[in-house]
Amino acid sequence: MTRLNPVTGRRPGPETAPGYETGAFGHQKAGEQGRLRALEDLWDPLTERYLRQAGVPATARCLEVGAGAGSVARILARVCPNGDVTATDIDTRFFERLAAEERITVLRHDVTQDGFPADSFEVIHARMVLCHLADPAHVLAAMAEWLSPGGLLLVEDLDLGPADASPHPVMRQGLRLAEQTLGVSQGSDLRLGRRLQALVTDGGFTFGGMRVQPVMIGDGGPADEFWRLSFAQLRDFAALSNVALAGELDAALSLIDHPGFTDLGMNAVSVWGRKPVRPTG
Ligand SMILES: C[S@@+](CC[C@H](N)C(=O)[O-])C[C@H]1O[C@@H](n2cnc3c(N)ncnc32)[C@H](O)[C@@H]1O
Repeated sequence: MTRLNPVTGRRPGPETAPGYETGAFGHQKAGEQGRLRALEDLWDPLTERYLRQAGVPATARCLEVGAGAGSVARILARVCPNGDVTATDIDTRFFERLAAEERITVLRHDVTQDGFPADSFEVIHARMVLCHLADPAHVLAAMAEWLSPGGLLLVEDLDLGPADASPHPVMRQGLRLAEQTLGVSQGSDLRLGRRLQALVTDGGFTFGGMRVQPVMIGDGGPADEFWRLSFAQLRDFAALSNVALAGELDAALSLIDHPGFTDLGMNAVSVWGRKPVRPTG
């Protein structure tokens, strides 16, 4: 298989603190691996469906950015049975085991700072990663360099906008505090999904498709566990400095399992595009 030589020099970028690893959801936090697994249960079927809809060659060299607990690297290896997958993250502890698999390379790599040679991949995927970066447009520009002409980009992020209209004040407030806590602690933008299509097309990619999946809370589906674990981690984080805020997050957590409660919490947004075969402009 092709072994990539990542560019070891740092790429100058505008990325500033705070970062993911210092925030409420850093990998060292108790429960983070389980929370990432819950995210995979929630989103993996959609990701695989969109990769297949977009169409990827069986031989594609794939890059999975911010691999988290690693499931999408496996999906890419399945969708591209004669290709290979480079799975990266600033912290690879939850998917180190994938290094034992034949066509998967595990690489510690900060997408805001570290590079790859031009035209290294035919497929690049990033899910719930751009929303945690200070300058997603800068990172999309780097991804465009790393993709070969005609290569596929699939990016996926949350849009927490529906939470504003929740008829449940406790959940509305819980989601608002979740958003604020993540914004302050690690610079995250949980509404990035709403801007994703514009970011992709402004980044020079040819638009391929966009799908929006409403995600319920409290209906017994896979999002329930994701939000239980997310609220619990946020509550523990908030409790270090603000007991009242921790109490409000706890109330939202309890509401998830309250009989009769269901709510539309967020949209899962997926956008794909291709690097033009000939440069535009
Ligand atoms: C919410 S998790 C999503 C994990 C995975 N993409 C998924 O959807 O299942 C965000 C991931 O992005 C990683 N991440 C955050 N900032 C990063 C950066 N600058 N470079 C690479 N990965 C980063 C985090 O370490 C974390 O694993």
